[in-house]
Amino acid sequence: MHPVEDFQPTYNYRVVRQFTLMTLLWGVLGMAMGVVIAAQLVWPELNLGQPWTSFGRIRPIHTNLVIFAFGGGALFATSLYVVQRTSRVRLISDSLASFVFWGWQAAIMAMLLSYPLGYTTSKEYAEMEWPIALWVTLVWVVYAYLFFGTIARRQVRHIYVGNWFYGAFIVVTAMVHIVNHLATPVSLLKSYPLYSGATDAMIQWWYGHSVVGFILSVGFLGMMYYFVPKQAERPIYSYRLSIVHFWAIIALYIWAGPHHLHYTALPDWAQTLGMVMSVILLAPSWGGMINGLMTLSGAWHRLRTDPVLRFLVVSLAFYGMSTFEGPMMAIKTVNALSHYTDWTIGHVHAGALGWVAMISIGTLYHMIPRLWGREQMYSVGLINAHFWLATIGTVLYIAAMWVNGITQGLMWRAVNEDGTLTYSFVEALEASHAGYLVRLIGGAVFASGMLLMAWNCWCTLRSGDPVRAEAAAMA
Ligand code: HEM
Ligand code: HEM
Repeated sequence: MHPVEDFQPTYNYRVVRQFTLMTLLWGVLGMAMGVVIAAQLVWPELNLGQPWTSFGRIRPIHTNLVIFAFGGGALFATSLYVVQRTSRVRLISDSLASFVFWGWQAAIMAMLLSYPLGYTTSKEYAEMEWPIALWVTLVWVVYAYLFFGTIARRQVRHIYVGNWFYGAFIVVTAMVHIVNHLATPVSLLKSYPLYSGATDAMIQWWYGHSVVGFILSVGFLGMMYYFVPKQAERPIYSYRLSIVHFWAIIALYIWAGPHHLHYTALPDWAQTLGMVMSVILLAPSWGGMINGLMTLSGAWHRLRTDPVLRFLVVSLAFYGMSTFEGPMMAIKTVNALSHYTDWTIGHVHAGALGWVAMISIGTLYHMIPRLWGREQMYSVGLINAHFWLATIGTVLYIAAMWVNGITQGLMWRAVNEDGTLTYSFVEALEASHAGYLVRLIGGAVFASGMLLMAWNCWCTLRSGDPVRAEAAAMA
């Protein structure tokens, strides 16, 4: 008989396990799509001459899969894990937890089907047509109820700081999603936004930057505040710093959107406001990085033997790097060089691969044995190999894009004495070819690490014992 057969689990780990598995699956698929579009940029013949296999349609599948299915999945899994453990209470409803899981997967599937068929609002990261957007709103509201309801029933007085970050991510994402998706439907799969012209652009990038700020930054900082101290077995370096930089980030991020619209029809004062807020944002962003890195004080030696901790620490270094680069790119004169070039793509992936993916990977390696009742992952050696593939892949990707970006920016702005352009667009494109190839190799190296992870997880799960995991969590 199983020793814990009659055991009534304290925490709902089922939903966390479900989200964890789907995060992995969507991660592999989303990154594979990234490799496909990277290959299309090297060999355009790979568009295959079909509308639904063209770059323009596959690109949003990549971005939506990696941001909402992989990144979102990691945030659902970890927030529902952290909120229970730090509040010492089970989620308030198992059926609502199940609804959030299946509802979110349904939304992702709807996006996956509609984009290749050409149904899109054409607003970046907000491509879903109105019925999907409505469904996402419903799922999100239930998620918010589940998360905040669990906090309200907590068995400890204190609300752990990680939950503050998750909470802000949930509230602000709801707010910007709803405002940006306000539209007039004209048919089941077509709608027109309520806004037009520069207002539409401003609302879109207020939303777009909030996706960066509140999903890809604040949400993952919530993750960082729980898993870095746990894996390092050290308390957070400064609780006070975490509160100060939390409020500063919340106050600033929401103003930074106009840096996506420099030198456009947006009023000049709004562009300058976005630039100034972005530059100030460096300080609280680094507050988070410093707090995370300093948590390792006295535990640095563990990096030699613990590849999971290495993932977490390197992710913080990339977070620091991309939140230094971002404010610089927000300065108008720098943006005049970087905008529309591959430099932006390099910046995106320094954050996306180096920070978002690396911290998610480290966190999943921390959680999986605990969720499936194992001492540790099946193979630590494979985690180590994954770490190097991820690091080398990221560096190849972003270095190639920096070189391409600056080359493109300089070639586009070069003028002859008589005022004509020195280079045609095609010449700049030709000069970018080698960089695209290096990016493809870097991306493929990163994605192959994900396959190692999937294998390692499969082997861990095969001999796992979820019931024992929940019993151990209660002890
Ligand atoms: C202090 C923090 C940051 C600031 C001020 C910042 C600033 C910027 C700027 C100026 C751009 C280029 C806009 C353009 O020329 O079109 C940009 C693009 C972008 N950044 Fe950041 N960034 C920051 C952190 C991050 C982080 C941590 C991520 C995480 C992944 C990220 C993801 C992105 C994305 C996805 C875009 C591309 C948006 C698009 O055009 O589709 N950023 N950012
Ligand atoms: C194997 C890994 C990956 C590869 C090979 C890859 C490749 C690509 C490519 C080729 C593009 C299009 C660039 C262009 O239009 O010029 C792109 C865009 C993008 N990717 Fe990835 N990607 C990967 C992973 C990720 C991850 C993990 C994330 C987020 C967590 C991410 C977020 C994005 C975003 C937000 C954009 C749009 C950037 C913009 O519009 O400025 N990618 N990716």
